[in-house]
Order: sequence, then C-alpha cells, then structure tokens
Amino acid sequence: MDTEIRERLHSDVVLIRQVAEYIIGGGGKRLRPQLVLLSAGALGYRGSAHHTLAAVVEFIHTATLLHDDVVDESALRRGRPTANTEFGNAASVLVGDFVYSRAFQMMVGIGNMRVLQILADATNVIAEGEVLQLMNCRNADIEEESYLRVIRYKTAKLFEAAGRLGAVLAGATAAQEDAMASYGMHLGTAFQLIDDVLDYSGDPSVIGKNIGDDLAEGKPTLPLIHAICRGTPTEAGLVRQALTEGGAQHLDEVLTAIRRSGALDYTRRQAEAEAETARNALSVIPASPYRDSLIQLCGFAVTRTH
Ligand code: IPE
Ligand code: IPE
Ligand code: MG
Ligand code: MG
Repeated sequence: MDTEIRERLHSDVVLIRQVAEYIIGGGGKRLRPQLVLLSAGALGYRGSAHHTLAAVVEFIHTATLLHDDVVDESALRRGRPTANTEFGNAASVLVGDFVYSRAFQMMVGIGNMRVLQILADATNVIAEGEVLQLMNCRNADIEEESYLRVIRYKTAKLFEAAGRLGAVLAGATAAQEDAMASYGMHLGTAFQLIDDVLDYSGDPSVIGKNIGDDLAEGKPTLPLIHAICRGTPTEAGLVRQALTEGGAQHLDEVLTAIRRSGALDYTRRQAEAEAETARNALSVIPASPYRDSLIQLCGFAVTRTH
C-alpha cells in the first residue's frame, strides 16, 4: 500500500511532487487504509485491488488534511510545520485538489461501480461536514446532537467507507458489509471524540499537532459543549465567552474550566461507548487475526495519545 502511495503521487509538476511528498512523508498513522486491508482480509479477499483501494482512502484523507489545515489555520501536523506554513495556502489547496482527483483516477481504474459510489458519497459527505462545522463556528449554543452530526460527516464517514469497501471487495453478504460499515462509523466517531479531547490535553510533541487550535478558531467541540451545559455558572460563562470570541488568549482558563467540569472525562466516556458499539458490530464477522486487529483498533482509538 505504501509503494502504491509513493508511485501514484507522481506528477511532472515539481511543486505538486514537493507538497505531496512533504505531507505524505510526514508519516501519519495510516489508520483508514488499515481498515480497508483488515476488513477485506477478515472477509476472505485474496486479490490485489485492496492495496490500491487503501491508497485511495489515504489520498482522500491526505487531501482533506491539506485543506483542513488551511481552513483551521493550523501550523503543526505530523510533527512538522503544516504544508500551508511551508508552501502557503494556495499551494496546499491546489495540491489537495490534485491528490483528491488522483484518488478518483485510481478508483476508476478498479472498475467497480459500487466502489465509485461509496467513495463519491463519502467525499461529498466529508465536505458537508466541514461546511456544517464552519457554520457552527463560535456558536456556543450548538447541541450535542449537532456536534455529533458534524463529526460523523467530517471524520466517521471515511472510516465507514473504508470498512464497507473491504467488504465489497471481498464480495461479502449485505449483513457483513453493513456490519463493517457500522464498525467504521462508530470507530471513526470515537476517534474524532478523542481527537477533540487531545486538542485540550495532548502533548504536542506526541500528537504532532498544536493544542488549543480548536478554541483558537472557535470550534465548539464536545469538551466545550459539556462545560457550557454542565459546568458551574462561572465555568460555563468563561467557556462560552472564550468560544464566542475565538482566539487562544483564554486557553489556560478554559483548560481549567473544562477539566474541573468533568468535560474531558465525559467526552472520553462517549468515545468509549462508541468504540464498544464498533466492537459489537464485529460479532457477525468470523474470527481471524484480521478481526482481532480490528478489535484492537477499538482500544487504540480511545487510549491513543497520538
Ligand atoms: C487527523 O487524522 C484528522 C482527524 C480526523 C482527527 P489522523 O489522526 O488519522 O491523522 P494522521 O493521518 O495519523 O496524521
Ligand atoms: C479533521 O478535524 C476533519 C477532517 C480532516 C475532515 P480536525 O480539524 O479536528 O482535525 P485536526 O485536529 O486538524 O487533525
Ligand atoms: Mg484541523
Ligand atoms: Mg482536531
């Protein structure tokens, strides 16, 4: 899969190669492509299209990161300056488009209409999620349900697609395909809930991203929503004001308020519940080392520090 990623990034346009290799070379956990490979393996797939499809999913993820760091004005990704910091916003947006469209060229090459449909739908929903999030920027009255919709769209949808694609390649039954999709969706939700916890509690040298980015751009994630709804009037007022104003100047007070109000623990518990639902979805999948690894990912999604 990594070979495929390297080879398919090629372009004669020098700046494309530079930016694309910069972000891909930064590493990353390669979680979503792992889901494609493991789900295909768990359902008995024995061909070679899974490597291409895994690379496609990682390309879509990479394109969203290039765009996301411009929109979020983030400066650190995978332990290095973001592509937008290094090459500028224009190069990041345009190379993001290149990586997106390369992913579509590759999936067309697989020649399976279901695969095309799943990935076209997923990329469309991811875009909806990012726009929904934009609409809720600095909104201190957003409800937990609306926040969950945003993270299901912007993050969990690609995990869902990854799980489903492995099953489609393997020619699985409809029930197994839906189980893999549900597994991916709940795993991805747990994964983003923890991402939102780490944005307030992570170690930048371990997560490879700066903390406080969400507050700086006025992103109402669950730790803030919970502190506003369940914190003391003082905690709620402080978080509400910092979120509405945006900017990172109140980060320390907000950190204290969300810790004291139990908002980080609450968000972790929600993530654990999602991971448990993901694990349960695997009960219709036959036991194998592939399924064991999928189960292990549920633990990783909630205990991870990077
Ligand atoms: C970052 O995803 C974007 C989110 C959806 C939180 P990852 O944490 O999987 O990023 P990499 O690929 O490992 O860098
Ligand atoms: C990531 O959300 C969503 C997508 C990339 C589509 P975040 O904005 O929380 O991701 P990070 O924290 O920048 O990786
Ligand atoms: Mg971001
Ligand atoms: Mg984040």
